[in-house]
Amino acid sequence: MAVELATRVLSADRSAVAEAARLLTAGGLVAFPTETVYGLGADATGGEAVARLYAAKGRPSFNPLISHVADVEAARALGAFNRAAKQLAAAFWPGPLTLVVPRVTGCPVSDLATAGLDTIALRVPSHPVAREVLRAVARPIVAPSANRSGHVSTTTAAHVAADLSGRVDLILDGGATALGLESTIVACVGDTPALLRPGGLAREEIEAELGAPLATPQPNANAPASPGQLASHYAPRARLRLDIEAVKPGEALLAFGRERPRGTELAKAALNLSPAADVIEAAANLFSHLRALDQSGAATIAVMRVPHEGLGEAINDRLARAAAPRP
Ligand code: TXA
Ligand code: MG
Repeated sequence: MAVELATRVLSADRSAVAEAARLLTAGGLVAFPTETVYGLGADATGGEAVARLYAAKGRPSFNPLISHVADVEAARALGAFNRAAKQLAAAFWPGPLTLVVPRVTGCPVSDLATAGLDTIALRVPSHPVAREVLRAVARPIVAPSANRSGHVSTTTAAHVAADLSGRVDLILDGGATALGLESTIVACVGDTPALLRPGGLAREEIEAELGAPLATPQPNANAPASPGQLASHYAPRARLRLDIEAVKPGEALLAFGRERPRGTELAKAALNLSPAADVIEAAANLFSHLRALDQSGAATIAVMRVPHEGLGEAINDRLARAAAPRP
């Protein structure tokens, strides 16, 4: 059995922050305090770092994550801000507000971090430790709450350690978080800003700033992208055929591992999630490969079997959703 070494917990002084930035830049996982809850951070631009974060949390599915940045300027390099987004950022950042906006072309955040969506969730936290880490690392950091999947969000370094020790590279101790409730999420994508998740910033404050009510979209887990509607999950246009043994002429092939299924030479396009059959690498490639094969114009993407171990569970969850019949 693998021995899990306890993760270092360091008081968040200047040298600990520098160490956190070094680890994050190298693709490591670092828990740090924000004003809402503790976040488990990873380099948003590194697909494999994001995949390791999912593995550490033990999440059985891929949800889009929030990219945390040091200031409005860094946020605007990643997302396109309409008038409402600019107004809310000016009024409430830094602070417990997350804005969902369209990704800009060339946005360096990995497809796994945004779960293949063409929108991105952005947040500028106000906690001094979070701000110092983000300034030192100078790149977007995804940070879901620092707890194991299915457990409650953590508000002290001791709670983080109890949940994640041995699974992450460093825990920065910055005391108890002030709010204890996640950030409020507002989508500024269509004409009317929409409240996606209530949280640490009250709806009334946001509506008072905008001088108009926020829309409240109905949750719609499997909705494919449709104009004017927020898609909560990416779905390819092509149909998916799972666990294939042979490729049919004209299909696109999404391969896994070294094996070549029958008919591979007849595929319209082919990409391999991980020739080495490594689920972390496969997770990092999942959304970008699906997108690329979708763009090949094939009507069907034939997908080889991905083992159900580790991140394989989340990969299979996403493939099954994409393969489900839709209207
Ligand atoms: O307070 C917080 O926001 C904490 C601290 C650590 O910053 N973070 C946090 O992250 O709560 P997380 O990963 O647990 O929550 C991300 C939420 C999910 O509900 C996800 O569906 C939503 O953000 N989200 C992310 N990107 C999105 C997008 N492009 N469109 C719609 N929702 C999105
Ligand atoms: Mg959470």
